[in-house]
Amino acid sequence: MKRSLVTFMTLAALSTSLYAYSQADRIKDMRTMAQALSDIQKGILYNNKKLVDEGVSHLKTASGNIQIAPKNAMDYSSVFAKDQAANIVKYADRLDKSMKEGQKHAALTEYTSVLNQCVSCHNKIRKWNR
Ligand code: HEC
Repeated sequence: MKRSLVTFMTLAALSTSLYAYSQADRIKDMRTMAQALSDIQKGILYNNKKLVDEGVSHLKTASGNIQIAPKNAMDYSSVFAKDQAANIVKYADRLDKSMKEGQKHAALTEYTSVLNQCVSCHNKIRKWNR
């Protein structure tokens, strides 16, 4: 019984590392988020609350997936990535709420806050700061 539990746990650990978050997964999630942002923008312009709501939902799911592996013990990129993802979810929720209340200017401000998270991570992690 005990041994089978250990075997099971070892297998579970192995399969987790086999299915680790890959670069292809990351690019897929990034494209989902970019699409979600353009849907949200369209939803605000067309006063389509459903489109905004769907965009926010896709944005939140994809940002929850993002992982950045640390390159060494002093690399805090993965912690930074978690914070960024949490911020994206926070601002996206506010955006959705503002849109539902008909506050489009507020929704746009929150939209920019989301976009700022994207750009600051690209600056830091991708070193796109030139
Ligand atoms: C935690 C860091 C981080 C955050 C936050 C982040 N990105 Fe990215 N993004 C990356 C990295 C790293 C890559 C490069 C992907 C790779 O090559 O593995 C990337 C690449 C991309 C790409 C290019 C994908 C391609 O087709 O090559 C797009 C588009 C993109 N991100 C959009 C977004 C949007 C939109 C957001 C915000 C909603 C966002 N990203 C937030 C780190 C981040």
